[in-house]
This record gives sequence, structure tokens and C-alpha cells, in this order.
Amino acid sequence: MSKRVTLSFKLNGGLATVTAPPAVSLQRILREALNLTGTKNGCGEGECGACTVLFDGVAVNSCLVPFCQVEGRTIVTIEAFDHSGDAPVHPLLHALVTHGAVQCGFCTPGVVMSAVGLLNHNPNPTRDAIREALAGNLCRCTGYDAIFRALQSLHSVSVMPVPRYREYRGEIRETDRVDVIPVKHLEELKALEVLDSWDLRFLAGGTDLMVSKNGQGKGSAGDMWIDLARCAELQHIRIVDGRMRIGSGVTWAELTTDPHVRQYAPALAQAATQVGSAQIRAKGTLGGNLANASPAGDSFPVLAALKTHVVTVNPGGGTRTIPVEELVIRPGKTCLNSGECIVEVIFPVDARRVSGFFKSVPRCAQALAKVSVAIGLTMDGNVVEEARVALGAAGPRVVLVERAGHCLVGRALSPDAVSECVSASIDAAAPIDDFRATRDYRIRMIEVGIRRVMASLSRQNQRSSPESSPRPE
Ligand SMILES: Cc1cc2nc3c(=O)[nH]c(=O)nc-3n(C[C@H](O)[C@H](O)[C@H](O)COP(=O)(O)OP(=O)(O)OC[C@H]3O[C@@H](n4cnc5c(N)ncnc54)[C@H](O)[C@@H]3O)c2cc1C
Ligand code: FES
Ligand code: FES
Repeated sequence: MSKRVTLSFKLNGGLATVTAPPAVSLQRILREALNLTGTKNGCGEGECGACTVLFDGVAVNSCLVPFCQVEGRTIVTIEAFDHSGDAPVHPLLHALVTHGAVQCGFCTPGVVMSAVGLLNHNPNPTRDAIREALAGNLCRCTGYDAIFRALQSLHSVSVMPVPRYREYRGEIRETDRVDVIPVKHLEELKALEVLDSWDLRFLAGGTDLMVSKNGQGKGSAGDMWIDLARCAELQHIRIVDGRMRIGSGVTWAELTTDPHVRQYAPALAQAATQVGSAQIRAKGTLGGNLANASPAGDSFPVLAALKTHVVTVNPGGGTRTIPVEELVIRPGKTCLNSGECIVEVIFPVDARRVSGFFKSVPRCAQALAKVSVAIGLTMDGNVVEEARVALGAAGPRVVLVERAGHCLVGRALSPDAVSECVSASIDAAAPIDDFRATRDYRIRMIEVGIRRVMASLSRQNQRSSPESSPRPE
């Protein structure tokens, strides 16, 4: 049985002190320990957005934030907009009501918090920016048009609620099976004695692990967590000696905006923008995606196309370097030992490399790939010098199609070369029929994906070498 812990954090301008098991969700802390029931409980798996709160100014799903990660943070909930007494109605709430953007109101607290997260950083958002920020908030009755109109009416209005100091105290009396060890430095991890009796998990962003903890995921959540969220040595993105090194704790949100990633690994930035929702991208990490070992995990095809190695550290201090395409043994299972932590990924940087990503999905957000394609090409003018073609959700683990790479090398991106690459990829793929898509559909989408990525790489290459003229094969 886990101990309960007492933690303090800033809440709606005041200070909260709560005693509870370390792995329960922030959503439960707010609703059950502090009686702040404006934060709704919809799905418990990051899908509906009804539980959205601000975590250090950024919108996150509180159902996926474990209590242990809240200490010292600043949390803002819908109750900060309370206009009882003499407080005026906040302009954001006023806009939602006057534009008819509230019907049953169940989604509204989450919509408000996502909107504040957006408007704080972008006071005059476009319709597309609003759509992206609210993609993780489901509304079943109002429809999004009225919500979009309400937000667009708020030109440069300050949307942060005015804090009112108050002390919050509460507890959750139950215990649960998970204990948490926080790790701030890799040295602490190396010195850790991992016991055989532990069912150990690392905790990074929690967007997979908390789904299991909440009883919604496939796997078990284990009983001992090592929390990596405050380990600064896992948070870097840097280029050293011609190689990009990205820490396992870097989030999808950071990957979408990082200038090095956008310049030298556009496929990775493209994949990052398509993961989950804004709330999921704010917390979910690259290392968590790899260790989760889903055949549909978006990091795998991209990193395989970029020729990536995964660097790990073991308790005791030993390190390993593993080609990313060899990390997974079968769906949900990596080759990592218990206590072996992914520290960073490393891939070569080459200004002549172009890369792109395609993901076949039923909707623009909150959807895992039916199939995905990533291609990295190092170009010498118009001729391919090195090629890596990788497929996601096309087998039990990422498929690196070596023959597709070989058939491109030494040639221009002609229709014939692209068609040969398609055939080789379809031969190498082993997709299954499941609830997300049929095998035949997946095969068809591999062809669509390769042709689309190749067309975009051709354009990328023209832009990066404008003086080059097409060269016949
Ligand atoms: C609503 C929703 C939408 C999603 N959409 C997508 C999507 O579009 N594409 C996609 O690929 N994924 C998606 N995911 C899955 C998830 O968000 C990603 O896999 C994310 O990158 C996981 O990272 P995390 O930091 O949250 O992992 P965590 O939940 O913290 O950990 C996941 C697993 O990895 C292990 N782990 C974490 N860090 C390390 C480390 N450094 N070393 C060793 N093991 C480690 C943990 O023990 C755990 O087993 C979605 C999830 C949700 C809930
Ligand atoms: S309750 Fe649905 S996202 Fe948290
Ligand atoms: S107003 Fe009812 S779900 Fe959005």
C-alpha cells in the first residue's frame, strides 16, 4: 500500500495543501479533496477535455496529471472565474453566453480553460489556431461555430482571471498500490537499487501511464513509479558534432516549435503537431512514446527515417545504444530491462537531408494512425544519396523498408523510382485487420502516403537547392 503524501501548490491565486496518494489524478484532488467540482469528469483518458485546467499556464487534462507532479506548480481551474458576490462577469464567459456557445454546459469549463491557455499566448487567434487549441475539447450539443465566434470576438482582452487569495486544504483518505520515487538527476537513477519485487514504471508526461492507472488503458500501471518529470538532464534539444540529441523528456509541444527540429528534422515536427490534442502534446514526451511501444506510436517511423539511435541508462550506470527500429520486440513490449531508462535519441544532422511524414487518421485530432509513412532522403542536387523509408502501424513494430531505400539511391525522384519504392514498401508491410482499419485499406494508404511524402520532399529539395535543375535518371 502506498503512503499518502502531503503536497502544496498554487491554486487560483491561493495556496492548496492536500494529503493523498501520490498517483491519484489532479482531477480527483480538485473534485474529491477540494470540492472544486467545476472541473468535470468525462472519460478519464484524455479524450474529452472536460477536465482541462491550466498547469503553469498551459492547458492539460487533469485526469492524466498525477498528484505527485503538482507540487510547487501553479494550477488554475474554472473556479477562478467565479463571479459570485460583487465580481463582474469575466469577458470570456460573457462572450460565450452572448454568442450562444453554452447549452448543457458540461464541456464549458474545459473549453474555457483551453481558450485561456490559447488566448494567454495568442490574444488574436485565427480560426485555425482556435480549432487547434480546442481540438481536445468535445462538445456534444452546442457545436463549435458559436464557441469559435465567441473567442474571436475577444480582441486582445486579458483573459487571465484576477486571483483572489484563499487557502485550500483537503485530503483523499484512501491508499492505493502505487508508490512514487522522484528523480531530479540521472546520478540518482544510476544509484537506485531496483528491487525484484517492484512492478516498476517510469513516469514522464503520464499521458499513457495515467490512462492505465485510471483503469482505461490496456496495460497495468505497475506499483512503483520513478518520476522523471523534473529531471533536467532529459529535457534538452541540441546539436553536437553534427548530431541532434533530443532528451527523452522533451514534449511533443516542444518538438513542434523547436527551430533546430523544424529545420533539420521537419518530419519530426510534422508528426509532433499531429499527436493527440494541445493538452496531450503539452505533457506527452518522446521517451514515453518510445517506451510505450505502440505499433501506431508516431515517433517510430519518423525516428527510423532519420536514422536514430536510442540511448539508455541502467541502474548501476551502464548505458546502451539501440537502433530505434530494434527497440520494440512486440506491441507494448520493448527490449528495455526493468529500470532501464531512455535518456535521449540521437540522429545525424545533414543540411542536404529532406524528410516528411504522413499519417492516415479518421479525424484531425485525438486519433492514432491507421498507418503512417516517414521518409528521410539525403540529396546530392536532384539525386538521392541516402534513403530511409519507414512505416508505422504496418506490422507489430516499425517497418524500415530497406529495399525501398536501396531502389531510390543514385536516382532522381522520378515517377518510376517512386513506384518502385511503393511496391517495395507494400511487399515489406504486414498490416492487420482491426477496429481502426482493414489490412487492404492500410495497404492502399501506404501508397497514398509514400506518393504524398515524395511530392513534398521534391518541393523541399527544390526550395533548399534552387539552382539545381532536374537531372534525367
Ligand atoms: C487522448 C490521447 C491521444 C493520443 N494521441 C497520440 C497520437 O496521436 N500519437 C501517438 O503516438 N501517441 C498518442 N497518444 C499516446 C501518448 O500521448 C504518447 O505515447 C506520449 O508520447 C507518451 O508520453 P508520456 O510522457 O505521457 O508517457 P508516460 O505515460 O509517462 O509513459 C508511457 C510509458 O513509457 C514509460 N516511460 C516513460 N518515459 C520513459 C523513459 N525515459 N525511459 C523508459 N521508459 C519510459 C513509462 O513507464 C510508461 O510505460 C495519445 C494518448 C492519449 C491519452
Ligand atoms: S475526463 Fe476526459 S479528458 Fe479528462
Ligand atoms: S454545451 Fe453541452 S457538451 Fe458542450
